[in-house]
Amino acid sequence: MRIGILGSGQMADALGTQWRRAGHEVRTGGRSGGLREAAEFGTDAVLLALPYAAVAEVVGGLGEALRARALIDCTNPVGAGFRLLTAGGPAGAERIAAAAPDAHVVKAFNLCHVDVWRLTPPVFDGRPLAVPLCGDDPAALDVVRQLVRDLGCEPLNAGGLDRAGLVEATAALLIGLWVGEGADAQAIAPPLAHAAGY
Ligand SMILES: NC(=O)c1ccc[n+]([C@@H]2O[C@H](COP(=O)([O-])OP(=O)(O)OC[C@H]3O[C@@H](n4cnc5c(N)ncnc54)[C@H](OP(=O)(O)O)[C@@H]3O)[C@@H](O)[C@H]2O)c1
Repeated sequence: MRIGILGSGQMADALGTQWRRAGHEVRTGGRSGGLREAAEFGTDAVLLALPYAAVAEVVGGLGEALRARALIDCTNPVGAGFRLLTAGGPAGAERIAAAAPDAHVVKAFNLCHVDVWRLTPPVFDGRPLAVPLCGDDPAALDVVRQLVRDLGCEPLNAGGLDRAGLVEATAALLIGLWVGEGADAQAIAPPLAHAAGY
């Protein structure tokens, strides 16, 4: 695949390195230049590896360059005190979709720290990391499922883009538990056999 990455920070490096290793062509653009070139290059997928506060404006400015792209949103609209910055309004991913109406936004890769995305592979106690995806376009979801598998992870269908706010809120909850409380947040969910009662 041809993948464009907007942003040249930690998430850009972690996921870009994984996808290059899997054989994809990856072009990265940063604030100092190359954002449009990366978007145009990424005919299969474009990763938004930018701060939430900047992403809608950057995406809006790219217009046609994002047409028909699977636009992967890993941003976390989480502020001080692990507060969800979008509370009471559309999800971050929905705001991005409004700013890039010709692209196909898929929420993914936002739930784990960048160091997890660097693991080869992210497998814990023999279980591959599961990555929830939210999106409305079947072809774009297929692309992102493959990019998840390329890391050694398992994609999970988490519903349409109207469910992305739940994944973003989950990130706020988990980060608060991990960082704020030092808690083993993975332990909040029971195994599947017990999840829906006996
Ligand atoms: N780090 C994590 O563990 C993690 C995990 C999951 C999701 N995320 C999400 O992933 C996204 C990227 O995080 P990151 O850790 O990769 O951040 P980062 O290392 O700080 O990189 C952010 C990138 O965005 C660029 N940027 C900042 N403001 C910009 C603007 N106004 N216009 C254009 N580019 C701008 C930065 O450019 P400069 O270098 O010039 O400032 C940098 O290239 C965030 O939304 C974050 O919530 C992060």
